[in-house]
Amino acid sequence: QRSLLGLKDLDAAEIESILDRAAYWEGQAEKLTPVLQGKFVANMFFENSTRTRFSFEMAEKRLGAEVMNFAAAASSVEKGESIYDTVRTLESMGIDAGVIRLKPIGMLAEIASKVKVPLINAGDGNNEHPTQALLDLFTMRKHFGHLKGLSVSIIGDILHSRVARSNLWALRKLGADVKFCAPAEMQAPELDAPYISMDEAVKADVVMMLRVQLERHATGMMKSAALYRESYGLTVERAERMQSNAIIMHPAPVNRDVEIDSDLVEHEKSRIFPQMANGVPIRMAVMERAMS
Ligand code: CP
Repeated sequence: QRSLLGLKDLDAAEIESILDRAAYWEGQAEKLTPVLQGKFVANMFFENSTRTRFSFEMAEKRLGAEVMNFAAAASSVEKGESIYDTVRTLESMGIDAGVIRLKPIGMLAEIASKVKVPLINAGDGNNEHPTQALLDLFTMRKHFGHLKGLSVSIIGDILHSRVARSNLWALRKLGADVKFCAPAEMQAPELDAPYISMDEAVKADVVMMLRVQLERHATGMMKSAALYRESYGLTVERAERMQSNAIIMHPAPVNRDVEIDSDLVEHEKSRIFPQMANGVPIRMAVMERAMS
């Protein structure tokens, strides 16, 4: 039984073995393979989600697990119950694993040290989003056949991005060259990666755009969507300067016509919807690893 709290402390071989297992699940024609029959999983989302929550549920159901979905807004969290007490409550009822998304940084590791069931991080604050980065690596490996030596530009709201952090740590371990591009107020100086200009950033093999996370911003942090697009958005004009075999990625949800032009979301270079599809086999591999 293995938790997945982040990729910072996972070695390259483990990351590759999850990617390989996801490739196996992707290749299965049968939608249902009940290797987790009789196991109970709770999906505990203390922050909103569409992609992560539904693709975990799809993955768990495809493996035959019994799935329970917990939404904080309809629970005793609204009466002031803590996240720890909520997880302990579900553990005491007999769940075999928990998928959890929460805001406070550091809380997940603390909870995981106190409970016996494996916990899977579905995004904690701006710290890590390991299954998102795994599906991103899987998407890159599918297109290029390898990760070693790839140039990856991660562009936008680095400061608030758990996706940027998990991708940086995982891609580095697998030999990719990661560079950031962001306005000064959205940079994260504690992360050890070089910042480059937008003109440089669009020349990479992978141009990964990040959502401007307005819900995490201090008031007035982004003055104008139009100004942001002009300086740091992937516009149609900038996309025309990308390399012929390069791809566009974005974890979604997308602020159309802010960090990426609407016409690029389903452009031939875009992997935005394939990324979402790849989230299912990745999460099948992660849930199987947690409970087998
Ligand atoms: N990419 C991602 O985590 O999307 P959701 O917030 O919809 O889960």
